[in-house]
Amino acid sequence: MSAATELTATGTVPRILDAGLISDAMKGVESRSDTTRHFFANWPLFGLERVDAVIADYYTDAIEQFSTDYPTSPDINALPELNLGWHLVASSPRAVAIVADGYEFAGASTQERWRTFWFDPVRDAPLAAGDLVDTAATNRELATSARRPDAPGLDLSAVGADPVTSATLLAFAEDGSLLVGYDACEVAACAAGRVTFAIAPEATEWLLTDAGRAARSATLTPRDPIAEDPGDLPNPSPSTASTPSSAPAVDETVDCRKSKCVALTFDDGPGPFTTKLLDHLRKADVPATFFMLGQQVELYPKITRAVAAAGHEIGVHTWDHRMLTRLDTQQVRREITSSIKVVKQVTGKRPRLLRPPYGATDRAVAAEAKRAKVAQVLWDVDTLDWKTRSAKKTIKATLKDTRRGSIVLLHDIHSTTVAAVPGIIEGLRAKGYTFVTVSQLLGKAKPGRVYSRA
Ligand code: NI
Repeated sequence: MSAATELTATGTVPRILDAGLISDAMKGVESRSDTTRHFFANWPLFGLERVDAVIADYYTDAIEQFSTDYPTSPDINALPELNLGWHLVASSPRAVAIVADGYEFAGASTQERWRTFWFDPVRDAPLAAGDLVDTAATNRELATSARRPDAPGLDLSAVGADPVTSATLLAFAEDGSLLVGYDACEVAACAAGRVTFAIAPEATEWLLTDAGRAARSATLTPRDPIAEDPGDLPNPSPSTASTPSSAPAVDETVDCRKSKCVALTFDDGPGPFTTKLLDHLRKADVPATFFMLGQQVELYPKITRAVAAAGHEIGVHTWDHRMLTRLDTQQVRREITSSIKVVKQVTGKRPRLLRPPYGATDRAVAAEAKRAKVAQVLWDVDTLDWKTRSAKKTIKATLKDTRRGSIVLLHDIHSTTVAAVPGIIEGLRAKGYTFVTVSQLLGKAKPGRVYSRA
């Protein structure tokens, strides 16, 4: 994956896994994006009481802190922005780890933060640094690394007497090195950004506890955490997500001048419920359009491929849900091109559609969309599924507002939305609608131009 798509740091970065591996173990995704629209956060829920509470606390505290630091202003464009996502870095029945990964944009400055959460998914037990490594020995190794002549300006004492326990990141690299990481400004000059110390694999061996060794294998040879008998599984990820549907969902012969067409669109994914959504769409033989976030495509490459293989259309929704009207030209370009690039890398197909987050667009965004050869697609039916979180209300809103040529806005990161889809399809079919992708609905959509219905 390109550099723009990885966790960034001065030093080695952790090995990042396909989050599709834990789809079955996840009970959902919690996401927050407030009405004044200055933050976007999403984090996984595992249905584990203690673990979920620890993870949720981190995200909600960060949001609360951000909201206190930057109270609401009537001028939305004057507000800084917070983006909090996550990556999977270890997965097995004995140890799972995620890295909460955040960016805060305030004026010209960007602050990154990260935090690893290790836990035992069977016992619902968070795992601390002291559970995974011999902290005294690890601190000695860290002190040695910090004194290395090729690493000047590092000051571990700034984080206290027990640096490994105060680390914001504890993970493993591709080669099995133990990585101990800190946020910007903690152990080095702020300009260095986030910093990691890598302890060589041979040295790491002596530092790990039994749980630590299990944690390392969960990174290097990851498995589904809820597999009944992991030892017996021939294929570590028996996910149906990678199985392409036999018949492509798109019927090229539909003529929307004659048929009463409608396009269902799904934003902010892919996520853990996207596979279930694909099942619903396949059973009903309905094509849809997915406006994916680059960061989610990076999290779920297999599911992204399955969406494309089933014949659905994939458009982009920027890399990390930024409000494009508030960014400068370079940033807008990066948001659009990085997300196009990752979809193309993963599916082999170049997206032709862009949905600007919050539907926020202007002339500058249009110019960049045109340059990137993507049409801008808004919607005319807002189901408010993200707000009501009710399958019943989502079905009702869709059936009430859909007209001929409508583009319906839905979000496949919510289980309630995915649960609503069979009802939406049944209801619209009963009213004589034919389902098409957005590109089919619009015919030749012009790059840069804004569409909200046919
Ligand atoms: Ni969105």
